[in-house]
Amino acid sequence: MQGSRPCSTRSSSAQAKRVALGCARARGKKRIGILTGGGDCPGLNAGIRAIAKTAILNYDMEVVGIKDGFLGLIENRFLPISYEDVSGILALGGTFLGASNKANPFRHPDPKGRFRDVSDMAVENYKAMGLDGLICIGGDGTLNIAYRLLKKGVRLVGVPKTIDNDLKQTDTTIGFDSALITTTQAIDKLHTTAQSHHRVMVIEVMGRYAGWLALYSGLAGGGDIILLPEIPYDIKKVCEVVLKRNQSGKRFSIVVVSEGARPKAGKVVVRKMVKDSTDPVRLGGIGNKLANDIENMTGLEARVTVLGHLQRGGEPSPFDRILATRFGVEACKLTVKGDFGKVVVLKAGQIRKVDLEKAVEDIKRVSLNEPVIDVARAVGATFGI
Ligand code: F6P
Repeated sequence: MQGSRPCSTRSSSAQAKRVALGCARARGKKRIGILTGGGDCPGLNAGIRAIAKTAILNYDMEVVGIKDGFLGLIENRFLPISYEDVSGILALGGTFLGASNKANPFRHPDPKGRFRDVSDMAVENYKAMGLDGLICIGGDGTLNIAYRLLKKGVRLVGVPKTIDNDLKQTDTTIGFDSALITTTQAIDKLHTTAQSHHRVMVIEVMGRYAGWLALYSGLAGGGDIILLPEIPYDIKKVCEVVLKRNQSGKRFSIVVVSEGARPKAGKVVVRKMVKDSTDPVRLGGIGNKLANDIENMTGLEARVTVLGHLQRGGEPSPFDRILATRFGVEACKLTVKGDFGKVVVLKAGQIRKVDLEKAVEDIKRVSLNEPVIDVARAVGATFGI
């Protein structure tokens, strides 16, 4: 980053950084901190840019970026952010601050791998950074940790992001629209090869325990069968649909399956356990199981594509750039007003704020009354029941 100071304690000691920040404090400037926690997604840089530009241009504030989400708060790794640092990053995927979907000050492994509560140290580091407020951009894991830190006196505001779109109080999150574009494009491409080879194409998409990405990309990509975590599927029904299509001359089928989907009376498929993560379960593998089951039960050829982290990469869509900018500006304003303990959200096109406590009560799952389910059914898609 042009103009940014080194962020690693190897090249610039924490003390030197504190002195630099202390000079600004001496000039009476207020200081705002930003961190990006959890899994990355397109639009994070746009959010950081919006917060920093608003703070610098409108309030003459100092901006500090905390590296690698809550890990940087635990390890006291941060960097001053200048106007130049956030110029030219609007369209860049990922987060230049780094992220971690494992770091948790309330459960941090020591060198021997034993978990400790180091939240007091994180709070001390926050205080030592001289922050007047901290903006945490994250999904439900990050916002849950943020809520616990709020209760320990950290003045903070949340900004919702996740490709899973599973945060209850907001209509949508930063990253969802971009991931939806990637996923839909992949389904479009698989459609043509499915047609050529008369195959059943199973496409596994991310989303954890919420089926938003599968539902929306299934609809946008013309999926014939859409399987969601919220609607356990009956494999016989799935096969019936595939066979019926085949017999009627449609010799291919597109099956979009959410990584959190499971058969009736069956379990979710776990790809791996990440021991040092707050939520150690990493889903994945249902696509393979499904393709095998379909092939065995119908005799038709099935192939699986697991879209994986492709869905988290790439440039943010225009919608996500705008959303991240709207969220970032509002989060900065709340911080300036001292209106802490809030999360900025999108409700019916308007930017609003809700209490962090309320925002982390539960995740947002696809309800069975979701109008988009009816719409998908109206155009012939089925949900495996
Ligand atoms: O929450 C975002 C997400 O991409 C989920 O959709 C997915 O289940 C998970 O993160 C993957 O995590 P990791 O990057 O640790 O594999």
